[in-house]
Amino acid sequence: MRITIFGATGRMGRLLVRQALDAGHDVTAYARDPGRMRTAHPRLSVVTGELDDDHAIVQAVRDADAVVEGVGSVSDGTRRIIGAMEHAGVDRFVVVSTCSVPDPRDLPDAEFASLVAFVKTVAPGPYAEVRRAADLVRASSLGWTLVRVARLDDGPATGRVKVGHYGHGVVGPSITRADMAAFLLGQVSDGTYLRQAPAISN
Ligand SMILES: NC(=O)c1ccc[n+]([C@@H]2O[C@H](COP(=O)([O-])OP(=O)(O)OC[C@H]3O[C@@H](n4cnc5c(N)ncnc54)[C@H](OP(=O)(O)O)[C@@H]3O)[C@@H](O)[C@H]2O)c1
Repeated sequence: MRITIFGATGRMGRLLVRQALDAGHDVTAYARDPGRMRTAHPRLSVVTGELDDDHAIVQAVRDADAVVEGVGSVSDGTRRIIGAMEHAGVDRFVVVSTCSVPDPRDLPDAEFASLVAFVKTVAPGPYAEVRRAADLVRASSLGWTLVRVARLDDGPATGRVKVGHYGHGVVGPSITRADMAAFLLGQVSDGTYLRQAPAISN
């Protein structure tokens, strides 16, 4: 498949690029600073641009079979990516989100509630942006999946990922970036969580 990755130069994004190449995909990495791409590969191309560069975003997504976004709190960028995908007829959109974004299937959970309250207090801007981005994704016509995580760490890949909704006693607070990348990559060709917002953890 041809996969476009936004956030490709981040800690998780770099792992995702590597895993996608290892799995045989053609990868387009979108980067504001291509110098931060540490991978070179015949099946890797890099499109350089900021998240307000509509022309570069269109160039990055137009030939994709799927797009994965792991940029975080830049809802205007998410809006532009959605617009470019809808215009180009690219449907599959796998988006990293956080536990700050609620889902109707969640149940009340004191641990996550206090975590979200903390984030809302210390980082109200990013909190609002992540909520806004999720609203935009949900309102789009795309085949989206919002993958919600609470905390990422740099532990090794374990291959053991719990998937569910908060408050059911299944999903915990953290996951390794390697496992997160593998889950995102799997979603590209798996419709199990189409138009859903699963939470994941180790
Ligand atoms: N860290 C956590 O505990 C945690 C928890 C929940 C969710 N998440 C989400 O998980 C994803 C990966 O996390 P991470 O910790 O591996 O991320 P990271 O290392 O901070 O990388 C973030 C990526 O987003 C890009 N980015 C950030 N702001 C941008 C902007 N204004 N314009 C253009 N690009 C921008 C960065 O580009 P540059 O390389 O150019 O800086 C980088 O590629 C992110 O979406 C993050 O929000 C993280």
